[in-house]
Amino acid sequence: MRTLLILALVAFIGAAVEGKKFSQCALVKELLKHGIPKNEMANWICLIEHESGYNTKATHRNTDGSIDYGLFQINNRYWCNSSGGPGKDCHVTCAALLSDNINASVQCAKLIKRRQGWRAWYGWINHCNGKKLPNVNHCY
Ligand SMILES: *[C@@H]1O[C@H](CO)[C@@H](O)[C@H](O)[C@H]1NC(C)=O
Ligand SMILES: *[C@@H]1O[C@H](CO)[C@@H](O)[C@H](O)[C@H]1NC(C)=O
Repeated sequence: MRTLLILALVAFIGAAVEGKKFSQCALVKELLKHGIPKNEMANWICLIEHESGYNTKATHRNTDGSIDYGLFQINNRYWCNSSGGPGKDCHVTCAALLSDNINASVQCAKLIKRRQGWRAWYGWINHCNGKKLPNVNHCY
């Protein structure tokens, strides 16, 4: 996340324990189903590719001790509650952001983008902003 400078330097995807690893087109179809518009798709796919490598179970511990969860590497400092029940701004448990069912992750990622824009993600800033984006048209 934006506030965690270290992510700019370290594109590290933490201990992935048997997550669901989507193919690019399978993920495109899931994102569409959960309301991601086609005109944003290439940016989302680029972001997810660089944040989690399409792995729903990706986690990463930051230097401040906070943890990023799932496809979008959503941070538990602001967005999800890692201690028990749903909480923080997305009103979800962090565990829900590691589910093979991507709905909770997508809804939370949409909220983050509404609040902060694409720049909430260093993966996007470093690898997608102004770069050639993946062509996902063959997936539709
Ligand atoms: C996280 O969940 C626990 C257990 O349900 C709850 O006590 C706590 O208030 C929640 N934290 C936030 C920030 O919502
Ligand atoms: C996805 O999650 C949102 C927010 O939690 C919820 O309102 C919606 O019903 C869910 N949609 C599906 C298809 O599960």
